[in-house]
Amino acid sequence: MKIVFVSSECTPYAKTGGLADVAAALPKALQRLGHEVRIIMPLYSSIDRARYGIQFQSSSCIHMGHGEENWVGVHSGLLDGQVPVWFVEYDRFFGRPGIYHEYWGEYLDNAYRFALLSKAALQICKDQNFIPDVMHSHDWPTALVPAFLKTWDRVLSPLSATASVLTIHNVGYQGVYDASAYSYIGIGSEYFYVDAFESHGKINLLKGGIFFADALTTVSPTHARELLEPIGGQGLAPYLNNRRDVLFGILNGVDYEHWNPATDALIPAPFDPSDLSGKATCKAHLQQRFGLEQRADLPIFGIVSRFVQQKGFDLLREVLPSALNGMALQVVVLGTGDNSTEDFFHWLTASYPGRVGSYIGFSDELSHLIEAGSDFFLMPSLYEPCGLNQSYSMKYGTLPIVRATGGLDDTVQNYDEATGNGTGFKFWDATAAALYYSIGWAVSTWFDRPQHIAQMRQQAMAQNFSWDDSARQYVDVYHLAIGNRRA
Ligand code: ADP
Ligand code: GLC
Repeated sequence: MKIVFVSSECTPYAKTGGLADVAAALPKALQRLGHEVRIIMPLYSSIDRARYGIQFQSSSCIHMGHGEENWVGVHSGLLDGQVPVWFVEYDRFFGRPGIYHEYWGEYLDNAYRFALLSKAALQICKDQNFIPDVMHSHDWPTALVPAFLKTWDRVLSPLSATASVLTIHNVGYQGVYDASAYSYIGIGSEYFYVDAFESHGKINLLKGGIFFADALTTVSPTHARELLEPIGGQGLAPYLNNRRDVLFGILNGVDYEHWNPATDALIPAPFDPSDLSGKATCKAHLQQRFGLEQRADLPIFGIVSRFVQQKGFDLLREVLPSALNGMALQVVVLGTGDNSTEDFFHWLTASYPGRVGSYIGFSDELSHLIEAGSDFFLMPSLYEPCGLNQSYSMKYGTLPIVRATGGLDDTVQNYDEATGNGTGFKFWDATAAALYYSIGWAVSTWFDRPQHIAQMRQQAMAQNFSWDDSARQYVDVYHLAIGNRRA
């Protein structure tokens, strides 16, 4: 099969969260299965062209609504030496420091920016004479791809047999914009109604994608069910229910080329299940790097996250001070986002010297160090379509503490005190009390039943969230989408 990924993020070029990791790892896994894959993404000015060997290839003329023509540069690169990538250069939209926003807020022309990317993706396939069986788009930024395929390229186009699959990584971001962008997008006003793009008088890009795509997926089986419920669907449940026959939940895998403590070049010492001495070295480095007391006997709780409400920071803000007052533990935090959460962690770090360390910003290196050097990993998410960090944690023998929602519920096996089995600690209620209790449960296990911690570590490290299995499930969905497109 020929498959084109269209994404606003892809590791290592541009990343704000897990979408970038999936948009890199899944294409590689599909290629391993013998498919021919291309990735199309913006050439943000933050991308280091020299470092990644990105080179200008050609130009393409993109026709937007009202006869507007935008010429873009098409640059090419090779992801991890494996998957060809086409980068869309259009400085008016992508020559900015941020992907979606800067410190002052979201870019006001995001509907225009990502409409151009989506339309360019179709044009590049045609201009490069790479006619895909499937175009696979991700979240609201590329949700217009299915719509363009079904309108502009429905007939008399080389893409008239190309099927579309839309993956919903995060239904909390729907791409809701002023209706005035609709004329630039250039899809007929007959689709500006409540079942397609219209939502409370505005354009909802994700909703339009849900309407047009030949098949839909999300990133865990549990979240596929959650999306069909009023709360889980975040306003889109009725429209997702209209398409429930073509909605599938496929669990994200882990790219073990990048996330494996035995081979990870970003951590100070390697380790594997048969010899965890390297993990102790990583813990000592982590404590030193974050200004924590050098204490092998205390458990470290790690956090690596976007600072947004989804991740349960309201609960953490309530619980962490009392946990630090009542229990012998250390906390390290890496993240950036909401100002109030950033301020909270500055305050927490200053208030508990030697016990709390934080880095407010984005750092791949520190994210690996925290996974490797921590004993527990905190993910009290209010919702979590899949989550990758809990799976990375397990591989590094770091036991996740999670709220049992979405992919967290699907990937973590709760600790059983009678047998010592489990890969982490789960709680169900989205309350401060439930989180506090779970942290306490982990800390008491650490001090009172260390043999259970050792046993759980082995079980966690033995988990295999292989992309190969998930990629096979995507191939099944691609076949179904092709069938729907051609029916
Ligand atoms: P989400 O996509 O909702 O942010 P995931 O758990 O799926 O959640 O993926 C988050 C990804 O982003 C992980 O690879 C994590 O390591 C990374 N990440 C999040 N915040 C940071 C940060 N401040 N620095 C480095 N990596 C980060
Ligand atoms: C999203 C979700 C996260 C998921 C990631 C990659 O941003 O919040 O749960 O793991 O996408 O699919």
